Amino acid sequence: MTNPQRTPYVGGNWKMNTDLSTGRELALAVSRGVSASKAQVAVFPPFVYLQEIGRALREANSRVLLGAQDVYFEASGAFTGEVSIAMLKDVGVRVVLTGHSERRHVLGESDELVGKKTRAVLASGLECILCVGEKLEERTAGQTDRVNERQLRAALTDLPAEHAARLTIAYEPVWAIGTGKNATPADAQDAHAKIRGVLSSLLGGEAARSIRIEYGGSVKGSNAAELFAQPDIDGGLIGGASLKAEEFCAIVNAAG
Ligand code: PGA
Repeated sequence: MTNPQRTPYVGGNWKMNTDLSTGRELALAVSRGVSASKAQVAVFPPFVYLQEIGRALREANSRVLLGAQDVYFEASGAFTGEVSIAMLKDVGVRVVLTGHSERRHVLGESDELVGKKTRAVLASGLECILCVGEKLEERTAGQTDRVNERQLRAALTDLPAEHAARLTIAYEPVWAIGTGKNATPADAQDAHAKIRGVLSSLLGGEAARSIRIEYGGSVKGSNAAELFAQPDIDGGLIGGASLKAEEFCAIVNAAG
């Protein structure tokens, strides 16, 4: 991390894991374990536990932000099973993930849908972490930067400048998620620098310099410092390792 304009940012994406009591304990253990860090920290519990975990964090006067793993872009109505931005705000959510690779590739979300969600979140005043990244066959075919650019353009074209202030990007190569195979720091840095270039062309140089780009995909306590030392890597989005408080806190503390 070389740019002091960008506070390091680490998120713990719990995915479809924990139950109410282990989730509450995990959030509180994270909160205690990151109290000395200067990094911004968010946890992303399953929807049904957001309210209770938000309450536990508030009662502990925690600086850990409450995040949601997904959202729907419409305000209300006949959208069975979906959750609106207002509902998330109601329970204290501050930041929302959009375009996570499991939403794109397991649940079938299109670039267009991810774009609608991203714009709606940013317009609402909440923070958004937009996830992008290539699949293994795309990397092998030399298409990494093209895929990232396509996903960024689909979500961010014509985004108002004031909305960009609430945006973070997570670069998560799909082949590195949950596989134990992280991108090398040099490969991740290269992708991040290209992403920052696309942000510059879409949103202007100043916005591009201030937007955090997290790396995600098999980040652990043992490889975090090396990744976060790269000039365009501003923190991480952590899956598996975010379920163990000690490991997650080691990653946060490696960020700053
Ligand atoms: P992982 O997941 O850390 O388990 O690889 C990262 C993510 O999906 O955000």
